[in-house]
Amino acid sequence: MKFVIKGNKNIEGSIKNSGSKNSAVAIIPASVLAKDEVILRNVPDIQDVQTLIKILKEIGYRINFADNILKIKPNKKITHRIKSDEVSRLRGSYYFMGAFLGKIRKIVIKNCGGCNLGYRPINFHLEGFQKLGARIKKHPQEISLKAKILKGTDITLGFPSVGATINIMLACVKAKGRTIIKNCAQEPEIIDVGNFLKAMGAKIDGLGSETIIVEGVKKLTGCDYTITSDRIEAGTYLILGALSDGSGITVKGCSPQYLQSLIELLQNIGCEIIIGETDITVKKNNPLKPFSITTAPYPAFPTDLGQMMSVLATQIEGKSAIKETIFSNRFSHVTELQKMGADIVVKGKTINIQKSKLKAAMVKAYDLRGAASLILAAALTDGVTYIDNIEVLLRGYERPVEKLSSLGLDIKLV
Ligand code: EPU
Repeated sequence: MKFVIKGNKNIEGSIKNSGSKNSAVAIIPASVLAKDEVILRNVPDIQDVQTLIKILKEIGYRINFADNILKIKPNKKITHRIKSDEVSRLRGSYYFMGAFLGKIRKIVIKNCGGCNLGYRPINFHLEGFQKLGARIKKHPQEISLKAKILKGTDITLGFPSVGATINIMLACVKAKGRTIIKNCAQEPEIIDVGNFLKAMGAKIDGLGSETIIVEGVKKLTGCDYTITSDRIEAGTYLILGALSDGSGITVKGCSPQYLQSLIELLQNIGCEIIIGETDITVKKNNPLKPFSITTAPYPAFPTDLGQMMSVLATQIEGKSAIKETIFSNRFSHVTELQKMGADIVVKGKTINIQKSKLKAAMVKAYDLRGAASLILAAALTDGVTYIDNIEVLLRGYERPVEKLSSLGLDIKLV
């Protein structure tokens, strides 16, 4: 599938922030920990969620998904053998490991997938499971985890990994005794997953800090939980606001407290920003100043917004630089932006960007956020841009055609 986008430098207006992808892809697998029905609200209707729904149906759950409300109910018979090819379509499927270990202390699951951002090992997840008492067998296509008993313990992560922090929380939530997880990731999605587990009856302290303490409980019950807003989707549209000559873009229903690093950066380079309780408006002010950012774990600047910022840098006089420290291959969008005329040079982990006039071109999206950056670039051109392989964007952005059209962008999915 392709996006066909006719540039329009004057887009403006407001969009409603969707529920967080990276929370949803963890909370949905985590729902299997409950004995009975879980109701999730503000669930984004994106491809990754649809894929998780398929997996849940295949292993024995009854699902109802309408109007962003997802109801997940276990049938009498659930299988812990997840052999579906769907598993390899997304990264979040690896949360079934922690969830099934926590639930029944065993799981067999195909290898997970996700955006190709370089080597993405799961050693911290597996080391954590092992410390809790799980035995691990790796096969070429799948992995099996089994434990007689899971016992609370101290686990120090080698890096504040989002995935490992969540997966270990899921595995130990019903373990015997207390688990202390140190060097945890502090991303808002960790807090969201933790709050969801607490709504099911889990005992967890320290969410959003370096150390999370989980006191094992005997059972978790169903609950009714509302997923937080997607800070990366919000950030994408706010950066679009900083790029557009229109009267500004407002993201409604977002969480400004989770977007501090982006807000500060946009303010520092000269954008006009109005912050409400749950709304943010960004308006471009000329001229903007060049910037230098280093992506790092929360609360620093998020890796997921670096690619979009590289497009903003092409519109600013002077040299801007973005250093990526989380993933080894986050710059696959650069060759595509270069086809559009962007003056970007990759130097190791850093890209240096100079002001450039972007032109329409035929480009290809290689990963979710890279795809979003190509849309922003396409909006700045005078012609028609074709973005191929747009499936990667549909995995994680809800109703992008509808939202971008409402802002005045001429965009079609073909
Ligand atoms: N790492 C290891 N070993 C591990 C786990 C991670 O070496 O066991 C390394 C990774 O290779 C990477 C770094 O640690 O270099 C960070 O990985 P992390 O585990 O924090 O990331 P993740 O859980 O794979 C999630 C999001 C990403 C987001 C990162 C960082 C999901 C499904 N994905 O990935 O989101 O960029 O955290 O915030 O939650 C996206 O939405 O486009 C996206 C890629």
